[in-house]
Amino acid sequence: MEFSLESQNPQLVTADCIVVGVYEDGELTSSAQQLNSASQGFLAKLVDEGDIEGKTGQTLLLHQVEGITAKRVLMVGCGKKDELTTSQYRKITHAALKFLNGSASQSVLICLTELDVPNMGSHRKTRQIAEAGHYVQYRFDHTKAEKLPPAHPLKTITIHQAESTSSSAQQALHEGNAIGLGVNLARELGNLPGNICTPTYLARQAAQIASDYKNIKATILEQKDMEKLAMGSFLSVAKGSREAPKLIMLEYTGADKNEPPHVLIGKGITFDSGGISIKPGQAMDEMKFDMCGAASVLGTMKTIAELQPKLNVVAIVPSCENLPDGNANKPGDVVTSMSGQTIEILNTDAEGRLILCDALTYSEKFKPASVIDVATLTGACVVALGKHPAGLLGNNDELIDDIKQAANTSCDRVWQLPLWEDYQEQLKSNFADIANIGGPGAGTITAACFLSRFAKKLKWAHLDIAGVAWESGNNKGATGRPVALLSQYLLDRCK
Ligand code: BES
Ligand code: MN
Ligand code: ZN
Repeated sequence: MEFSLESQNPQLVTADCIVVGVYEDGELTSSAQQLNSASQGFLAKLVDEGDIEGKTGQTLLLHQVEGITAKRVLMVGCGKKDELTTSQYRKITHAALKFLNGSASQSVLICLTELDVPNMGSHRKTRQIAEAGHYVQYRFDHTKAEKLPPAHPLKTITIHQAESTSSSAQQALHEGNAIGLGVNLARELGNLPGNICTPTYLARQAAQIASDYKNIKATILEQKDMEKLAMGSFLSVAKGSREAPKLIMLEYTGADKNEPPHVLIGKGITFDSGGISIKPGQAMDEMKFDMCGAASVLGTMKTIAELQPKLNVVAIVPSCENLPDGNANKPGDVVTSMSGQTIEILNTDAEGRLILCDALTYSEKFKPASVIDVATLTGACVVALGKHPAGLLGNNDELIDDIKQAANTSCDRVWQLPLWEDYQEQLKSNFADIANIGGPGAGTITAACFLSRFAKKLKWAHLDIAGVAWESGNNKGATGRPVALLSQYLLDRCK
């Protein structure tokens, strides 16, 4: 798929389809008005006749409109003009491109950067369209015997600009393209089943990124390396599985090598059965998505490798399976983490924190500027926040604010939960320094409290992506979140 920019009068553009907007009160966007005049009021007439109401994401395809060079016009509903938000804008662009992908139109001109969205300049809108282009085109067929390409995939997406093409718009395209690629890599890794996407598979994917791009190096630590490092907590989870655990690292060097890196840590449980504290069968297949934190971190590294920003970034992915086995962790077992703190494992299903804590301790060696861990950590997060924002917690207000800002810019939302000292007592153990669960209340917060014990020397934040990493139901599949957020956070660090 190719992207380009165009600022010509839309009625004169040769394309298979031109996309223009209509608001809920029937008002046409400026490009739609131009097409309307060129076609002697044809678009307004359709609105008057009730063919399209302008509800967000509604579509109406017109063929061979007189006075217009392009073969088709797609009218897309933009909702209420004064209620436009960034997430609304996302829905509009996705709806239009989703409609067109697989339709007869292969080259499209999108006239949607002209929508007036608060806090969204033309750079962000241009980028959003490029991201949406990648998003709608992704299809999972790795494990389908029949690999039919869609009859008519979108080939070129031209984004209409109000002013003549600026370097900022070019940069926006470049960013949107890179983020789209990173998001789709994260989706693909997330969607792959646990019998294919093993820790070894993830390690190979990381090595692939390192060989595809410059300034990026992969290092894989094996079980024996981790034994030497005394990662007793991580390895205790891994020993219930026959798959070899991996600690996967990618180091991107875009600035002076002495500059402290930003570290991203991704939970890479390639299947979470719960272990001996086994999960109920209902929707257990979805626990193949328990490596979506890892996938988002690897996806972000791909985006960064594409964009080559002037900063240093390290990705750390602890990866293993959580299975019941004669050698698996048992409730009541006590293990010693790399930090030296002992942990009483009261529930083997709270395994994410057991692998992340050693990765956090390991990250100290990079003397990082910041550390963000990303994990499908708690079902409680889905209960508390649903599927729209990721849960955000951390030990540093500046870092939290930077992440919130990146979330707003990238339209990849987060919501902060409190990490008050008061919650720490829920993790008291009679037999170890800390218990791995904190009882029924505030499960997302006590999980973060657990991690905070291992992040004392770090400027650290935690993203619980249990609600946002994948969709269930008919659209079951990984979303690639929060690649856009992490990429934005990193890009913001260069300025
Ligand atoms: N991977 C799960 C969290 C999860 C569950 C994410 C469902 C998305 C949907 C995690 O390892 C887990 O099992 N957490 C437990 C923690 C509990 C035992 C304290 C949970 O949330 O039930
Ligand atoms: Mn679990
Ligand atoms: Zn898990």
